[in-house]
Amino acid sequence: MSDADITYDLRLLQQSRKKWDRSPALRSVYEDIFRAMAAECLAGPKLELGSGIGVAGEKIPDLVSSDLVKTEFVDRAVSAYEIPAESWASILAMDTLHHLQRPFDFFKSAATALRPGGRIVLMEPAGTGFGARFYRRFHHEPCVPEEIQPPFGFPTDGNGEFANMGMGVGLMERQRAETASRLAALGLRIKSVYYRDLFAYPLSGGFSNPAWLPAWALKVVMAIEHKLPQSVMRRLALRMVIVIEKTDPAAIA
Ligand SMILES: C[S@@+](CC[C@H](N)C(=O)[O-])C[C@H]1O[C@@H](n2cnc3c(N)ncnc32)[C@H](O)[C@@H]1O
Repeated sequence: MSDADITYDLRLLQQSRKKWDRSPALRSVYEDIFRAMAAECLAGPKLELGSGIGVAGEKIPDLVSSDLVKTEFVDRAVSAYEIPAESWASILAMDTLHHLQRPFDFFKSAATALRPGGRIVLMEPAGTGFGARFYRRFHHEPCVPEEIQPPFGFPTDGNGEFANMGMGVGLMERQRAETASRLAALGLRIKSVYYRDLFAYPLSGGFSNPAWLPAWALKVVMAIEHKLPQSVMRRLALRMVIVIEKTDPAAIA
């Protein structure tokens, strides 16, 4: 299925947006995530890919939201494979990389579209030892970091869709050397990868369930989680932050 064939379940987006508006618990967790993404961005114009209900802009300044289809929730229609080359300071995406069948075509497109020194900031599910078990038990999408292998072109499922929540750990841990080398050929460099989040998101109820804890208690949980060392989070975390920078503008013609 090509990007053009994607149809949108607008009702699902509208339901998610309602849940967002009504749940301070859910918003508190996402706001923490958006703040972390904003902290990795450079000042200047930012493009978000796969924006869904388009709420990141509430915490990230100068953000242009986008998705495959222009809906009431986003500013523009943009494919991750054909990013408009508008000298973006940062290109962001949350929970989108693991839906990309051709991640290096996305990186190539981003390399062209970023200004020199610009950044790609990705928030992704983390298929850590605990994270992979958690997602396999509680989430409908596959999480198989071992399947993230060269040539990094992935088939769709029977419904014409692709998801592997193991994409982040697959690229940045298991295939780190290969990923770094392919990115270097595009003039890109992995700046940092770090792990975050344990129980605050599940306790917020996400978009499908009622919250188990109020927003103030979730903030306490998040503050504790932020203090856990990376040596622990690398095994347990449910999310990871990937920052890639454009180091060599000449690498991409
Ligand atoms: C799991 S949703 C994440 C939505 C939102 N960022 C969030 O975290 O709630 C994945 C998003 O990626 C978008 N997406 C999938 N393939 C894409 C592509 N090739 N280019 C741009 N966006 C894409 C989908 O339309 C969807 O909005």
